[in-house]
Amino acid sequence: MELLRLENLTKTFGGLTAVKDVNFTVNEGSISGLIGPNGAGKTTIFNLITGIYKVTRGAIYFQNVPIHDKEPHVIAGMGITRTFQNIRLFKNLTVYQNVLTACHHNADYGIFDAALRLKKFRRQERELKEFAGRLLELMELSGWKDKVANSLPYGLQRRLEIARALALKPKLLLLDEPAAGMNPDETRQLMNLIRRIRDEFGCTILVIEHHMDLIMGICDNIIVLNFGKKLAEGPPEKIQQDPLVIEAYLGEGGMPGA
Ligand SMILES: Nc1ncnc2c1ncn2[C@@H]1O[C@H](COP(=O)(O)OP(=O)(O)OP(=O)(O)O)[C@@H](O)[C@H]1O
Ligand SMILES: [Mg+2]
Repeated sequence: MELLRLENLTKTFGGLTAVKDVNFTVNEGSISGLIGPNGAGKTTIFNLITGIYKVTRGAIYFQNVPIHDKEPHVIAGMGITRTFQNIRLFKNLTVYQNVLTACHHNADYGIFDAALRLKKFRRQERELKEFAGRLLELMELSGWKDKVANSLPYGLQRRLEIARALALKPKLLLLDEPAAGMNPDETRQLMNLIRRIRDEFGCTILVIEHHMDLIMGICDNIIVLNFGKKLAEGPPEKIQQDPLVIEAYLGEGGMPGA
């Protein structure tokens, strides 16, 4: 079943067309990949889906509801969250505090309940703490719980950012280059974690990556962009052999990581 649909999506910045007439769908429960050379328009598509950029032309549907006219917080509330190409964390808070603050977006007690420490507040606090602990376990960060985020190796900071995105209980998780700066071992571990997120969390994942082994290893469907346009789409076996895709990457010195 279809979860997300982009229809003739177009975004221009002044005279520059960053995304042009892009169409694709993301099926529920899938891991889909969005790839393409630098500047192809991948991050711009994430910014359009999450409402950070306004669509110039075209439409975006989430569960068949148009979202291209909605504000970012409304879209997040509907169940779409993301990570960023440049890591965004509370650098001076601990790993646990980073996740717990994100979990608090799910709380529905008011300031009044909190001030009086009413039953509802206490129960929800307990549930949020349990959930934060579960997320740390899932992302294999429990051993780093009390470390300050800034002191974590880069690869773990990326995992912490994913844990924070998951705290919002998304239906669709958008990952923008989650393996950037990771070594092959860390990348392999991340691949397994992304699969586990899909299986244990039941969320659909759309991932941007330059590490081809990761993309080819975990994606059900891959969309290739080049100069803002969709160049190809299909399962990994098809994309790897597509002459247009190979050519697009050859201009950049070959398919990265392939
Ligand atoms: N806010 C903006 N203002 C002007 N131009 C922008 C803006 N955001 C993106 N662009 C331009 O749009 C094009 C696509 O950029 P985008 O960041 O989407 O590429 P990308 O595929 O994510 O590349 P990379 O792999 O390097 O992250 C680029 O030419 C970029 O300079
Ligand atoms: Mg980008």
